Amino acid sequence: MKTQESGMDRLVITGGKALQGTISIGGSKNACLPIIAAALLCPETLLLKNIPRLSDVSSMVQLLLHLGCSVKTDKKNIYLQTDTLATEDAPYDLVRKMRASVVVLGPLLGRFGKARISLPGGCAIGARPIDLHLKGLKLLGAEITLEQGYVSAVVPNGRLIGADIDLDFPSVGATQNLMMAAVLAEGVTRIRQSAREPEIAQLADCLNAMGADVRGAGEAIIEIHGKSRLHGAEYSIEADRIQGGSYAMMVAATGGQAFLRGMKLEYLGQAQGVLASAGVEMQQEDGGISVQASAINPIDIVTAPYPGFPTDLQAQLMALLCLAEGRSSITEKIFENRFMHVPELQRMGADIQLMGDTAIINTTPVTDRPRLTGAEVMATDLRASFSLIMLGLVAEGTTTVQRLYHLDRGYENLTEKLCTLGADVVRKSHDAS
Ligand code: UD1
Repeated sequence: MKTQESGMDRLVITGGKALQGTISIGGSKNACLPIIAAALLCPETLLLKNIPRLSDVSSMVQLLLHLGCSVKTDKKNIYLQTDTLATEDAPYDLVRKMRASVVVLGPLLGRFGKARISLPGGCAIGARPIDLHLKGLKLLGAEITLEQGYVSAVVPNGRLIGADIDLDFPSVGATQNLMMAAVLAEGVTRIRQSAREPEIAQLADCLNAMGADVRGAGEAIIEIHGKSRLHGAEYSIEADRIQGGSYAMMVAATGGQAFLRGMKLEYLGQAQGVLASAGVEMQQEDGGISVQASAINPIDIVTAPYPGFPTDLQAQLMALLCLAEGRSSITEKIFENRFMHVPELQRMGADIQLMGDTAIINTTPVTDRPRLTGAEVMATDLRASFSLIMLGLVAEGTTTVQRLYHLDRGYENLTEKLCTLGADVVRKSHDAS
């Protein structure tokens, strides 16, 4: 009998195989979460294609169902329709599972003029406040109060009014929330210092397909000409650049070669050059990219908003750089506590020292370093967990990664993909010994 997969499952990895083969990179998690929330903006059906099967996507769909949206799924398609609102209340139980839930705030205020959302609370990788979201919504005319762990917002005269908003920092979530609030506002909104991630451009494309007028997405200033209503549309989610970058580094770490179907190099921004200098050879081909390892080289990088090197690839790059001969450094500038993978990587023999927001990798000469050996390690957050698997695939012996629910949030069919690439991995259920 097939055992039910559970988030508490573990992955048992036997290191030493060079990964080879072809896998598909699924639709982008970070693009589809706000785009699903965009279904709150019109009464007709929004058909979204290439939706990945991930627990974060299920959490967003649960939240929309709760708000009164009707949802039908058919393979990788999802049909969303929001006739009327069942409630404007997004309770703690639904929001705590996933911080990105906060992006329902903008569309709820834009179309229905009211919203009450539990504050997402702390997150393992940092405080992650939502002050920039709220500041922008206030400038658009929302009245906001914070009480008992909830954000309550109303639009006094029913319709938001376009405004000039300077974000101070290009927050991805704040940019998305404000774009979705502004598409139904009266007049013109300009979002300065907006985030420029490809997921922002995808949201704009979807909103424009729904009849919105969003200009300049992907640039530092986004201009939105508000409309009185939006309509239904069809939109297909692009491949996940973070997943693509993660697998490219994994393949290179094992000294293998692979084809990542659906992935486009252009999505990677400066990460493309960073990975190339570290020894990940990638080539754009028809329908995807080919990846091949060369010698892994030490590098120094700092994470930054797009087009800079993404924080979401930082942990995976660290695992890769553990295999380089010389000293590397990684400075994390986006989240203040995003080095939780370091103690776990160290347990496998990785030579990493932490100095504030910088990790120094390979401080000792290669001849004095301990060998990388398998160990029992704990997945701590989504991307960090992938770095543990990467090192497990090259370490001597067996590595067990506990708590796979972190990976289920963002890596679709992870075990199957690893097996397709020839990795020696087994997912074991929580109760199986
Ligand atoms: C999104 C991504 C996440 C990625 C991150 C940075 C989704 C679903 N998640 O998260 O995978 O790691 O971008 O690329 O797309 N901040 C504030 N005030 C705010 C908002 C943010 O101070 O109001 C700070 C955060 O604490 C953090 C930084 O800005 O230090 C970046 O956050 P942000 O860009 O908003 O990330 P998310 O949208 O949460």
